[in-house]
Amino acid sequence: MSLSDAARAVRENAYVPYSRFKVGAAMRSTSGATHVGCNVENVAYPEGTCAEAGAIAAMIATGETEIAEVYVIADSPAPVPPCGGCRQKLAEFAKGDVKVTLATTDGAEFVTTVAELLPGAFGKDHMDRT
Ligand code: THU
Repeated sequence: MSLSDAARAVRENAYVPYSRFKVGAAMRSTSGATHVGCNVENVAYPEGTCAEAGAIAAMIATGETEIAEVYVIADSPAPVPPCGGCRQKLAEFAKGDVKVTLATTDGAEFVTTVAELLPGAFGKDHMDRT
């Protein structure tokens, strides 16, 4: 299954009683495996957990730590940009040149990269004085 189809399919499972805004994310890791996530909200934290964070957690749970490609889809007028926290999470597990496709359920796609999404990212090197 393509990343696009995987993201579109998992989006249907999003639990979004507060925003009513379903998001699906699919990520291919360097082994070639696909990991999916949808957003999950709760009454105390109605913004919940983003689809991207869910897909990353699913990848980590399989023992992999390196993302090779990302696809995010939502029923929005224009491709939805990942939130700031998710940009930092993507930067933790993907090299800057990793392709990120942001899509709408209507078929619009915006292709970008992890580095473009988080220019000047805080990284491990910023803690290194030696
Ligand atoms: N959301 C995502 O899952 N990913 C994004 O890239 C943007 C926002 C979710 C979080 C929340 O459940 C809903 O969309 C509205 O913010």
